Amino acid sequence: MLTTISKLSAHVGEKVKLGAWLYNKRSSGKILFLQLRDGTGVVQGVMLKKLVDTEVWQQAKDLPQESSLYVEGTVRADERAPTGYELDVTGLEVIQSAEEYPIALKEHGVEFLMDHRHLWIRSPRQRAILRIRAEIIRQIRAWLDGEGFTQVDPPVLTSSSCEGTTNLFHTKYFDEDAYLTQSGQLYMEATAMALGRVYSFGPTFRAEKSKTRRHLIEFWMIEPEMAFVDHVQSLEVQEALLTHVIQSVLQNCADELKTLGRDTTALANVKGPFPRITYDEAVELLKREGFEFEWGEDFGAPHETKIAESFDRPVFITHYPTTIKAFYMKPDPERQEVVLCADLIAPEGYGEIIGGGQRIDDPALLKQRFQEHQLSQDDYAWYLDLRKYGSVPHSGFGLGLERTVAWICGLEHVRETIPFPRMLNRLYP
Ligand code: 4AD
Ligand code: MG
Repeated sequence: MLTTISKLSAHVGEKVKLGAWLYNKRSSGKILFLQLRDGTGVVQGVMLKKLVDTEVWQQAKDLPQESSLYVEGTVRADERAPTGYELDVTGLEVIQSAEEYPIALKEHGVEFLMDHRHLWIRSPRQRAILRIRAEIIRQIRAWLDGEGFTQVDPPVLTSSSCEGTTNLFHTKYFDEDAYLTQSGQLYMEATAMALGRVYSFGPTFRAEKSKTRRHLIEFWMIEPEMAFVDHVQSLEVQEALLTHVIQSVLQNCADELKTLGRDTTALANVKGPFPRITYDEAVELLKREGFEFEWGEDFGAPHETKIAESFDRPVFITHYPTTIKAFYMKPDPERQEVVLCADLIAPEGYGEIIGGGQRIDDPALLKQRFQEHQLSQDDYAWYLDLRKYGSVPHSGFGLGLERTVAWICGLEHVRETIPFPRMLNRLYP
């Protein structure tokens, strides 16, 4: 049986065998230092010429980066080693001697790295990001499961739109037209009427011609939906969820955050309650800062960044104009021109990471909205049914996973937050 690098601490003084890739090597005459990685960690193998067969020595000396190996050796505790252990190598079997590895241990351009994404993910930085992504997912699920939410999977192929018709991915569904889902929300509303508190976690698609550091064509969303919960109560859920996620990642991924060079002081501050300002107040803030901005416009990245700068933690912007939000948003009963919604804007320029709000529960108003938004009532007959058979106040939100990962990891661009990003002009690899 093979041991893994992550388990070496349990084998100090013992002989072990690892399956590994050669990450780097360096020699100083009669000693060879082999940087080995196996997916669970990295360890330095130390090979002394006098202790191994001449063939093994020669083979190891000439071995190219990323060659795959079985390595035998004795585990030694070493305080100077980054992981606390080293391996005194006694035997080595080459599984494959790799061809010349295209990603050398030097700087490369972004496009080159993106073309080699399937190999780039082996680098320490990319491994750290993918580990943190997995931890974020794990903690989101753990918190929601613990709060009595049931996970439900909405369909990926849909017959209608949720977030407007301008960025739908069209496909044929035999003789019918179908679209890749933009959001599971409408289906989650149906399941919330069956199960009370639900959440989905799945891929969503937007055929957006946006080429920014925040936009992906395919991204993953967590979408909780709650019956008998109003807009304000939904904000409290968002605060508690995000506080849990940030604090857990800080605790469980300290090594990974260090690998990324992430300054975590700002993150440590992220505890609810989060400040809340209305759209109107945000507009005033922007005007004070010298922006020309008309009431009724939507915020762009520079606006969101400026607004976020005024706060030391994420900020909710609530009560957006009805005209710039989706058809399903419930108007404020006291002010019909704004809706009971909120976007959560992350600090440090990472922009909107959550969008959510209270849903229209009145069938007559919903019908009116279908007309205003030129949506066919037939396509949404099932959705209207939810307002005919026991309609209740309900709210929900969608948390964009990749933007959350980018923020927590402190990344320049969302392209590094997902194993194989789908972006404008990029479908390979
Ligand atoms: O604000 P959005 O469009 O909201 C919805 O889709 C709602 N139906 C969610 C709900 O209430 N259940 O998207 C939600 C989040 C955004 O805040 C953002 O984090 C992320 O999804 N997002 C994107 N992430 C990466 N690339 C894109 N193109 C994104 N579009 C939205
Ligand atoms: Mg939004």
